[in-house]
Amino acid sequence: MKRKAFLLIGATVAFATMAAAEVVAPGDVVFEDGGAVAQSLTGVAGDPAAGREIFANRKLGNCLACHVNADLNEQLFHGEVGPPLDGVADRWEEAQLRGILVNSKNTFEGTIMPAFYRTDGLNRVLEKFQGKTVLTAQQVEDVLAYLMTLKEE
Ligand code: HEC
Repeated sequence: MKRKAFLLIGATVAFATMAAAEVVAPGDVVFEDGGAVAQSLTGVAGDPAAGREIFANRKLGNCLACHVNADLNEQLFHGEVGPPLDGVADRWEEAQLRGILVNSKNTFEGTIMPAFYRTDGLNRVLEKFQGKTVLTAQQVEDVLAYLMTLKEE
């Protein structure tokens, strides 16, 4: 008896986890006019602390290669190719920031900023990266949650 109940709970938990982890595939992301993406890619709230790590990680976001960000002053090098991201959450809505992360080309035509959640239309992709996005859907949501903390006092 006990064992059956346990299995039932296990199955319910597994199902709930699956339902929560409904990830939008790169090709299914819906952009509004102007490049915003209103719908969460995962339905799971982003983790700003994880997003901060991804932002600074040279193998993941590598955002510092192009953006100054005073919140990460412990990191030595900040590039200046893109605008500083201090107070970026005051300038953009969450949906617009998600769109910029997924594919900034829909917000800034012809920008050199990489598309972080896209598999098609990329040039000269190394074989090991083919069919893969730079960031996972949850990593995009994590970086987004972090960007939403960047407000000027
Ligand atoms: C290769 C350089 C490059 C990298 C890497 C890069 N960006 Fe950008 N980003 C840009 C440029 C350039 C712009 C300005 C848009 C344009 O081209 O006019 C921009 C614009 C933005 C904007 C809009 C800022 C504003 O105030 O208008 C945000 C937000 C942003 N980037 C976030 C990020 C994040 C987060 C990462 C890392 C996950 C990242 N970028 C990685 C080059 C880069």
